[in-house]
Amino acid sequence: MAVGGQRIGLCGLGTVGSGVVNIFNTHGGLIRQRCGAHLELTHIGARRDNPGCDVGSRRVSRDIFDVVRDPDIDIVVELIGGTTVARTLVEEALEQGKHVVTANKALMAEHGNKLAAMAEERGLALRFEAAVAGGIPVIKTLREALAANSISGIVGIINGTGNFILTEMASAGRSFADVLAEAQALGYAEADPTFDVDGTDAAHKLVILASLAFGVPLDRDGPFTEGIDRVAPVDIDFARELGYCIKHLGIARRQSDGLDLRVHPTLVPATKQIARVDGVLNAVMIEADAVGEIVLTGPGAGSLPTASAVCGDLLDLGRVLSRAPADPIPILGIPTSDLRSLPVVLPGDVTCAWYLRLVVADRPGVMAEITRLLGDSGISIESLIQRPPKADSSHVTVVMLTDTVTGRQIESAVADIAALSALQGGVTTLRVESFEEA
Ligand code: HSE
Repeated sequence: MAVGGQRIGLCGLGTVGSGVVNIFNTHGGLIRQRCGAHLELTHIGARRDNPGCDVGSRRVSRDIFDVVRDPDIDIVVELIGGTTVARTLVEEALEQGKHVVTANKALMAEHGNKLAAMAEERGLALRFEAAVAGGIPVIKTLREALAANSISGIVGIINGTGNFILTEMASAGRSFADVLAEAQALGYAEADPTFDVDGTDAAHKLVILASLAFGVPLDRDGPFTEGIDRVAPVDIDFARELGYCIKHLGIARRQSDGLDLRVHPTLVPATKQIARVDGVLNAVMIEADAVGEIVLTGPGAGSLPTASAVCGDLLDLGRVLSRAPADPIPILGIPTSDLRSLPVVLPGDVTCAWYLRLVVADRPGVMAEITRLLGDSGISIESLIQRPPKADSSHVTVVMLTDTVTGRQIESAVADIAALSALQGGVTTLRVESFEEA
């Protein structure tokens, strides 16, 4: 360990890595002052240079494992992403006795239990503030500031790319592909944006939040997951007409029979605060018994916001390690041996209101048939819009909002409706979140 301070080795010089270098270049003195000890970024591992940052006189290695094996390094920052090389790198860093800071949500969601246990056994720190919601300090809030609360629920917009795309589609009528390309250019999207679009990235983050909030092991397969690729511009328009916005939400709630864990596009009342969280902003609403409800909001992706979270972890560690050679805060909020699994509530048992959109033949009796099938499944309709047919069409678009029912009821009714000869195409289904219990 460096005498009188900590030396940091950074692995990965992409969007977030270059942000970390830029923050150390700009705020090196401030960081040292606030840390109360030397905290220097001395060694960078990157396969290639990044023209967006000046590494100065720091040592640069093309083999990132040189950083992990550098005896002068006390803290390894993993910013390469993915779950294969990154996993080996973090494991090797811990085996070498180095503390680790990572922004890797996929790695934490898939291998976090093992990595946390490894770090704990060795008395090492493993910090991951930047893994969830970019620059918003939500991990610190759950693990430290709200440590005396029992948490009942978390509802969040936790993918910046997805929120940026939905916002631009809704406000500017832009195409999905066009906005996604811009999100990539701005450094919001993952290297492979499939994870942003299909909900996987948000599911990884929800897994981490659920572990910290409820003291459960990280379970990558826990959340029911749907992406923003289910949302068509026509649904955004109909939702607006009904007084709603469509947001991609991650929801984790403790219920009497287990955990309700879901990631999916959701209609939210346009009057709610979370409906006005637009663009790359994320928001995390936490329902806790002592503090009540709090909402944290801020940039959920991007170079400097995410690097801000990485550097916050580094500063925290620098402070702690300059005084005692261990991290006093349990990695997952409680010791890993105390984590207890809870059953995950099946989507069919979860209740909410639903948005349904379908295209049907414009002839007498069709609407009566649809409402009868919904009624047979115990579903009543709260609102209904029917678009008159275009001059050259014999079909109409029908949009309905139902009352609060189970996923199983909707599944059964939609299967019955899908069998109608009057139906053209499929039935679009989206969940509605009223926040009434929140
Ligand atoms: N691709 C992620 C997002 C980056 O858009 O939210 C931050 O985790």
